[in-house]
Amino acid sequence: MSKSKDNLVCIALAAGQGKRMRSKRAKVLHSVAGRPMIQYVLGQAAGLNASRLLIVVGHQGEAVRQALSHAGGTPAPSIDWVPQETLAGTGHAVQQARPLLGDYEGTVVILNGDQPLLTGQTLARLLAVHREKGAALTLLTARLSDPRGYGRVLRDSGGRVTGVVEEADASEEQRKIPEINIGVYAAQTPGLFSLLEEVRPDNAQGEYYLTDIVRLAVQKGQLLCGVSVLDPEEALGINTRADLSRAEKVLRRRIAERWMAEGVTLVDPETTRIDSAVTIGRDTVIYPFTMLEGETAVGEDCVIASHVRIISSRLGNGVVVKDHCVISEAVLEDEASVGPFSHLRPAALIRRRARVGNFVEIKKAELGEESKANHLSYLGDAVVGKGVNIGAGTITCNYDGTKKSRTIIEDQVFVGSDTQFIAPVRVGRGATIAAGSTVTQDVPPDALAIARSPQVNKKEWNLKKKIGKGKRRSSASH
Ligand code: UD1
Ligand code: CA
Repeated sequence: MSKSKDNLVCIALAAGQGKRMRSKRAKVLHSVAGRPMIQYVLGQAAGLNASRLLIVVGHQGEAVRQALSHAGGTPAPSIDWVPQETLAGTGHAVQQARPLLGDYEGTVVILNGDQPLLTGQTLARLLAVHREKGAALTLLTARLSDPRGYGRVLRDSGGRVTGVVEEADASEEQRKIPEINIGVYAAQTPGLFSLLEEVRPDNAQGEYYLTDIVRLAVQKGQLLCGVSVLDPEEALGINTRADLSRAEKVLRRRIAERWMAEGVTLVDPETTRIDSAVTIGRDTVIYPFTMLEGETAVGEDCVIASHVRIISSRLGNGVVVKDHCVISEAVLEDEASVGPFSHLRPAALIRRRARVGNFVEIKKAELGEESKANHLSYLGDAVVGKGVNIGAGTITCNYDGTKKSRTIIEDQVFVGSDTQFIAPVRVGRGATIAAGSTVTQDVPPDALAIARSPQVNKKEWNLKKKIGKGKRRSSASH
């Protein structure tokens, strides 16, 4: 165990199927703000400075592990996986962690894989109260205007917590209680496990309820505390798709507020969707209906217009993205400009001050410094040097039906409109390609390549044609 970390273990419950999601995928794998919801427990455990994180997995356990191995960027404590073979309830789930804890005596914080809105500050408050009071068990609660679906917190006439009753087991009267159990606890071991041994599945769902330890602790005269969250929004546990959309909305708003506080202008934060792993530099302006997804990084002083979708791409400083672009796994260097209606696909590299215009698709291709491809082009498997003009309608014919080949266009080349490059082909520095050419052979530097059939003008052809027609018509009338 690392010395710099607090002596604290987190146990996160993530074994359930999440039946109410009505999904083929385990609930904790569903994404919120561009991340599988299970990933949020990493940040929560890290926020608590926990030395260990035990994650209880069961339903689709392997996929859940995978989802955490891709958790880019999140500083995580060391993770141990705890299998829960039969999903016999939250109490049973926590018990499975016992063998891994050995003779650990200290504090355990129990988290859930379906609560991405819980903040580090709130968890820190829970832990602080728990430690300050020297409690055996501290539970996090919230008062909700609509407490339906949650376990209710029972208190005696003196306001002391006496237990938690699940909705399925609650009486009419108990269902009216607005205070709910968030399902997050701080507890001391080994006492926690002694309480769990006494839990029985004698309830409406036939499960080992973790919530029963509250009543048991009270019965044994142990010190029990309740900490209420300041913002009831944090209480949300995702059980249904409707809950998922609520969590999404809250996280989106938090992310937008964070970037505005950092100096980014969001013209309409309500319709701008920024994933949680995205980074944005100062004085960048983002117009409505734009989505920044995955691990996208946007530099300073960029302008991103409306209806743009950028997925896992890197934008330097002063980049301009005009309306309706789709940019995926691409790199745009400083002051590059793309759009409107450009499609940058994986491994597109747009160098400094290069310009990509409307209806241009670029895939696995580099467009060099200050080069332009402004209209109706496809550049695939290509390297385009500096100061090159790619005329309207130019296409790299990179695929012959079996393999892909490369087109190389050196610096300062002028490519006339409607050119096709039959790859593999190379155009030397400073060459000019006449418009309408089908380039099948390499072009030497500074040469002019014309690869189109010479034009033939048949003089007065149309007039002769008309006379011919007139003759035919007059003969037919006889
Ligand atoms: C639980 C609480 C309830 C609380 C609510 C807050 C219990 C009995 N009830 O109910 O008081 O108001 O959370 O959101 O604890 N899990 C396992 N193994 C299992 C069962 C569940 O790992 O056998 C995991 C789930 O994957 C989930 C978490 O535990 O991440 C909570 O389970 P869930 O079924 O969502 O509990 P709730 O019915 O919401
Ligand atoms: Ca839940």
